[in-house]
Amino acid sequence: MGCWHRKIDVNRVFVLQLNRPKTYFGIGALAKADAVLADLVRNGCDSVLVVTDPVSYKASGAWDSLRPFLDARVTWSHFDGVRPNPTYANCDAAAQAGRAIGAKAVLGIGGGSVLDTAKTAAVLLAHTGKKAADFYEKRTSITAALPVVAINTAHGCGSECSAFAVSQSDGEDKPALHSPHLYPTVAIDDPRLTASLPARQTRAMAVDALSHALEAATTTTTTPYAICLAREAAAHIAAFLPTALRQPGNLTARYWLMYASAIAGISVDHGMAHLGHILEHAMSTLNADVIHGEGLGILLPALIGEIYPAVPEVLAELLHPVVPELTGIPGEADLVTARLRQWLLGLGHPATMSAYFTGADVPALTRMAMKSCLGKMLLPLAPIRVDAAVVERIFQQSL
Ligand SMILES: [Fe+2]
Repeated sequence: MGCWHRKIDVNRVFVLQLNRPKTYFGIGALAKADAVLADLVRNGCDSVLVVTDPVSYKASGAWDSLRPFLDARVTWSHFDGVRPNPTYANCDAAAQAGRAIGAKAVLGIGGGSVLDTAKTAAVLLAHTGKKAADFYEKRTSITAALPVVAINTAHGCGSECSAFAVSQSDGEDKPALHSPHLYPTVAIDDPRLTASLPARQTRAMAVDALSHALEAATTTTTTPYAICLAREAAAHIAAFLPTALRQPGNLTARYWLMYASAIAGISVDHGMAHLGHILEHAMSTLNADVIHGEGLGILLPALIGEIYPAVPEVLAELLHPVVPELTGIPGEADLVTARLRQWLLGLGHPATMSAYFTGADVPALTRMAMKSCLGKMLLPLAPIRVDAAVVERIFQQSL
């Protein structure tokens, strides 16, 4: 870490992205919410759909700040049924709650699952008679969306900064949408809202953000900007995740983890993703108990070992904070796999998939990954040629 980091005033709220979405970032950023919502009201929005999961919107402390404005200024309905790994049914039910009041905007308060559902609901509310499946299964394209205000209560997904949304089908798939209409209108990243996250979620979210960085920087379509953001994100995660796990209320650590997840989300927006997310989506589709970031972390050592020989220079730079002896030559694949596994174990991360799967599940996981909508979208972007044997090997090595 360069010494300039220590000079950053973590209480100063600044605009992270100048273009849509405008993202207010910093401790105290939630105070911007009333002005953001008042702006919507001034532009004719008198009814708002609120999308949350059952817990985090209150546990984070966001709800107590936001509700007085809603009660005083607009008609609002509340869909609070977003589950982890949200489904098409979640999106459709949220949109239905919005239609019931003629919602003109969507307020999402939560982590990645909530914000992805809120963004999808905003699309559905702008297209009469459509279901989530119509968009996720590419039967129709996105041409509009209601304004979305995204209040982020996590530091993993980066959905508040990206044009992605993910949802699980009724069958064996977990596809993604990617459209400029999926950018929130305004996002708020206030690290205080993450201070009550328990250790397991803290770790899983940070590993999700690290995976975004490592994948976005190594696609065949990555950019210097995506790599630059990814390098910063990886460095902050390596530096501050141990502190956040030891001291959950340390707002400086939460600040940098939230910043890392936001810029990793922007990095994915620019660089896209590849194998990790394709394989993890197969895992959490086959077993909904798999936490997204944890599944990614379990796969990470074998996956990085597999792709390292193709992109050693960029991975050596990104992973320098974890494995300083990397020099960026292809022969370091075994070293990086072993040291990543050691680092994750040291953080208390599960080492294998054994809590969820056995070897008997690998053929099904491989088949699901290879035929998934996300696979069709992202497999061509992987830095190596991917066939079923490669996918099976990564799963086998992660057992
Ligand atoms: Fe992710």
